[in-house]
Amino acid sequence: MTKKKVLITRRWPEAVEARLKELYDVTLNETDTPMTAEAMRAALADYDAVCPTVSDKVDASVLAVSGQRAKILASYGVGYSHIDTEAAKKAGLVVTNTPEVLSECTADLALTLMLMAARRAGEGEREVRAGNWTGWRPTHMIGTKVSGGVFGVLGFGRIGREAAKRAHHGFGMKVIYFDPFPVKPELAAETNAEKRDTIEEVLREADVVSLHMPGGKDNYHLISTERLKLMKPTAILVNTARGEVVDGKALAAALKAGTIAGAGLDVFEGEPKIEPTLFECENAVLLPHLGSATKATRDAMGYRVIDNLEAFFRGDAPRDRVA
Ligand code: DGY
Repeated sequence: MTKKKVLITRRWPEAVEARLKELYDVTLNETDTPMTAEAMRAALADYDAVCPTVSDKVDASVLAVSGQRAKILASYGVGYSHIDTEAAKKAGLVVTNTPEVLSECTADLALTLMLMAARRAGEGEREVRAGNWTGWRPTHMIGTKVSGGVFGVLGFGRIGREAAKRAHHGFGMKVIYFDPFPVKPELAAETNAEKRDTIEEVLREADVVSLHMPGGKDNYHLISTERLKLMKPTAILVNTARGEVVDGKALAAALKAGTIAGAGLDVFEGEPKIEPTLFECENAVLLPHLGSATKATRDAMGYRVIDNLEAFFRGDAPRDRVA
């Protein structure tokens, strides 16, 4: 039987790529850079499956083309705002993602960012490396104590709840959350989490606000100038979700004015470009989208893509179908 033709848009971890190659006729986008619209159109015309990542835009202009061979977009990652799912449906393409396997590592990184921002770890490291540290003194690089504070979660899905567990059980923090969808009481009970009816209530009350909602147009610039004004001047904002959820310019202005104390950001609107004014903020921790970047997790994400492809080509429903 001829093998299905599968295109992966970026290099995958070695073992998973090898497994994929055993199963399919695999082509790698050799440049290992984000696919252009033109390359993506050609891929959809030539392959049975295309496996994009967060850095490949699969929008309506790419999908609204006739004569596509591809029937599935099996994305490597949980977030899928880089894919226009409505346009994919119209084009007859199934879309899958890789949930669950990255929740713990992404939550770990949210807490890393919380601590780095609260304890000024990035600033401290920069000072030491630059040879500017003059020694211990009682007033040096004073940060914020997070233990025992209030951890506000916007988006209480799998990753948000994992972050809440770490904050609650590890740092004794009270957890409050807002989610537009109902949350099962037993899941909220894991961290004694208290629901708030609006985003605004969470912003006003929390010492740390951690973002865990999907990206895309519905949540575009959800954290705006007006909403940043509601946060405490001692509060920290953490974003491991999607860059477009935060208005970067507004955040930089709030950080500079000191209307919030700090921010820990792993994702950026239009990444890898970064809103230039954020670089001017010593109190911003900026990481290069490392949420799921551990060996175990990146392997697991790849195997999850393979499971989805296998199910689809067998004629079964892939477990992670999102469109
Ligand atoms: C995810 O899985 O959504 C990560 O952010 C990488 O895409």
